[in-house]
Amino acid sequence: MSSDQYFDDDPTVPSNPLTVDVTLPDTAFTMETDRGVFSHGHLDTATSLLLRAELPLAAAGTLLDLGCGAGPIALTMARRSPAATVWAIDVNARARDLCARNAERNGLDNIVVAHPDEVPADLRFATIWSNPPIRVGKQALHDLLLTWLGRLSPDGHGALVVQKHLGADSLQRWLIDHGFATERVASKSGFRLFTLTLQHHEDQR
Ligand SMILES: C[S@@+](CC[C@H](N)C(=O)[O-])C[C@H]1O[C@@H](n2cnc3c(N)ncnc32)[C@H](O)[C@@H]1O
Repeated sequence: MSSDQYFDDDPTVPSNPLTVDVTLPDTAFTMETDRGVFSHGHLDTATSLLLRAELPLAAAGTLLDLGCGAGPIALTMARRSPAATVWAIDVNARARDLCARNAERNGLDNIVVAHPDEVPADLRFATIWSNPPIRVGKQALHDLLLTWLGRLSPDGHGALVVQKHLGADSLQRWLIDHGFATERVASKSGFRLFTLTLQHHEDQR
């Protein structure tokens, strides 16, 4: 594992900014990355898989990048859905600063960068995308996913990318058991990409 402690909420490791060019089939942008924030100096392979997949993405409304890091997911959502507002949340203060700067340098004014506690409680999300922080541990990850995926709007869509060896398959079963209709849509280079929707019970239709 990298010696950069990206899972610190307030990294003290000295800053060493590196810019990364992200090129996707439909868009491209440059983002600054830093030590103490996930994927310093590169675009993470799992994140790249998510961004290159053809996933449902609401064109308008409120979207969420859960655990934004330097912001590659939030920036892509904001570019693809200019009429939407993308909430980019992270507990890591350096990540939030980077993501806000990256939105600005790319002229994206439809991204709101926030600490998770700052998100209004009544906000619901039409799309939630995440490369989630698996390394926080199983219980913390489950709590995090229940909290945020539970805030999908009734017809909303989520997408998660997870390393197979970090328990992707058992996470899929867990999501299904907890009311999220979860499908594996890609499996590549040791990663699983899942899409999910809220399961509607017959009596709720
Ligand atoms: C695997 S990284 C993904 C970062 C970025 N989305 C990317 O793809 O490069 C997961 C992120 O989740 C953040 N995180 C950890 N715990 C969190 C929590 N409770 N709420 C929100 N974000 C959290 C970490 O700080 C980290 O930036």
